Amino acid sequence: MPGVGARNLPNILVTGTPGTGKSTLCQQLAEAHGLQWIEVGRLAKESGCLEEYDEEYQCPVLNEDKILDIMEDMLSEGGKIVDYHGCDFFPERWFDIVFVLRTDNTLLHDRLTNRGYTGKKLEDNIQCEIFQTILEEARESYKEEIVHELPSNSPEEMESNVDRIGLWLLNWKQDNGVL
Ligand SMILES: Nc1ncnc2c1ncn2[C@@H]1O[C@H](COP(=O)(O)OP(=O)(O)OP(=O)(O)O)[C@@H](O)[C@H]1O
Ligand SMILES: [Mg+2]
Repeated sequence: MPGVGARNLPNILVTGTPGTGKSTLCQQLAEAHGLQWIEVGRLAKESGCLEEYDEEYQCPVLNEDKILDIMEDMLSEGGKIVDYHGCDFFPERWFDIVFVLRTDNTLLHDRLTNRGYTGKKLEDNIQCEIFQTILEEARESYKEEIVHELPSNSPEEMESNVDRIGLWLLNWKQDNGVL
């Protein structure tokens, strides 16, 4: 089966603008289904993949080649749920499905303000959501049929996303003879 290779569990990518709820969703999915959650930002920090600080964007620069090397063995096993606010530098073959979380601008603004984001950093992130930057990045980087947009405005929507991805996982296991 193309893209699946020898994996006996699928890999899921959860992406979206900062603050849309990726980590909250991934943590719940990991707990519910025994998937291993890879928070790329944290892994990068822990494994020395963050380089000089970008003053303009107020964040450190990720060494993409280095983090991809570290992730390759993990992803080839399958059963991973990858959480990152970008998606165009991962190999396409890693993922069986890609979810892009979306949040209404005013709600996202409140979430990011609560987190202490201000000025350019706050504005850039809100614009990223308004212009659907990550959704377009995902559509350009993966097959259209595996990219799904998920609303993430409320706890109820989060719960429904957990259920929906849980069902997808069950179907995948049935289709691949894992159950
Ligand atoms: N569906 C939701 N409804 C209401 N609040 C949410 C929802 N999803 C996340 N939140 C809240 O929004 C904040 C940001 O969530 P979270 O840290 O999961 O986002 P993230 O996408 O992982 O951000 P980052 O890219 O910066 O890591 C948290 O306070 C979380 O509790
Ligand atoms: Mg996060």
